[in-house]
Amino acid sequence: MDIWISKSLTMLVAIALLFIASGCEKLDNPLNPEVDSVQNNNPLPDEEAIPQEEKIKIGFSMDTLEEERWLRDRDLFKSAVESLGAEVEILAANGDDALQVLQAETLISQGVDLLVIVPHNAEAAATIVKKAHLAGIKVLSYDRLIKNADIDLYVSFDNERVGELQAESITKLVPKGKYVYIGGADTDNNAHLFKKGVFNILQPLIDKGDIKVVYDQWTKNWLPSNAYANMQEALNANGGKVDAVIAANDATAGMAIQAMIEAGIAGAIPVAGQDAELAAAQRIVEGTQTMTVYKPIPTLAEEAAKLAVAMARGEYIDTSRKVNNGKVEVPSVLLSPIAVNKLNIEETVIADGFHLEEEVYQGNNR
Ligand code: BGC
Repeated sequence: MDIWISKSLTMLVAIALLFIASGCEKLDNPLNPEVDSVQNNNPLPDEEAIPQEEKIKIGFSMDTLEEERWLRDRDLFKSAVESLGAEVEILAANGDDALQVLQAETLISQGVDLLVIVPHNAEAAATIVKKAHLAGIKVLSYDRLIKNADIDLYVSFDNERVGELQAESITKLVPKGKYVYIGGADTDNNAHLFKKGVFNILQPLIDKGDIKVVYDQWTKNWLPSNAYANMQEALNANGGKVDAVIAANDATAGMAIQAMIEAGIAGAIPVAGQDAELAAAQRIVEGTQTMTVYKPIPTLAEEAAKLAVAMARGEYIDTSRKVNNGKVEVPSVLLSPIAVNKLNIEETVIADGFHLEEEVYQGNNR
């Protein structure tokens, strides 16, 4: 009897222990569906009270929205950042250095996780980089390089190649003669790279005595009205007789062409620009501009957005290319530009959907 009682007690204790153990397991095992039901018995906390991972916020400080391309850069960059689950605050400085610094300070004080900058002035923007770094914010130089500063990444096109493409196209048509060079803003590092590329191609021909550069000036602040004045000056200084014009972008080329129209020589003299602006594409099919350089802005914006968000999340970005900005070897991503003329306009800018065929041709013959 004693044995029977003690056996029964032992079994009861064993069953009780098993029950407790299985109960504990249910509570602790996240894979057990019953856990949910146990937890669901408790009222759920207010959704807003659930701590959520903070959204990454990028600050985008732009020099200007003047040229057609910068509107694309702005819109494409915004949607690329948003599609990566982050957000972006964008401010544009209308070509004003002091305003750009002020706007960048605003973005820094808003606590952005990373700053992307298109500098108006390559040197002056170094102040922004210092301020951002003091606040623990990394800086990505977008399209234009910030000089003499510890920037973290540079994403752009191969801008020296842009100039080379321009000069290669024009020297094929005009291997000998008087050249006019209408430069960009000398405060923009890109303007220097474009010019370097042009002279990489021109210099051997200048040395041979085949080409003479009869006019070579920067265009203050990239303003097309200044390019117009430059072109008029170039024509006046040479009795209206020049053989080729290379302008640092399409907006300056457009006003140089305007001066040439007024002098009655438009269409007769090759002109190069860059940016593949719609107006330039139209001039190319009409015949007043010879070529432009197409820089696929969607690729630039998407690449920069991807890298900016990754860097803001603390990822390490490794690039095979480095560009010296006078202070450091900046990790860089440089995309390839494409030369566009009347013959390949369909298979480049139009095929890419950069411009619509009907907008480019406006009823003109192909
Ligand atoms: C850009 C060009 C642009 C120019 C004027 C340069 O830094 O690379 O695409 O036309 O600035 O805004």
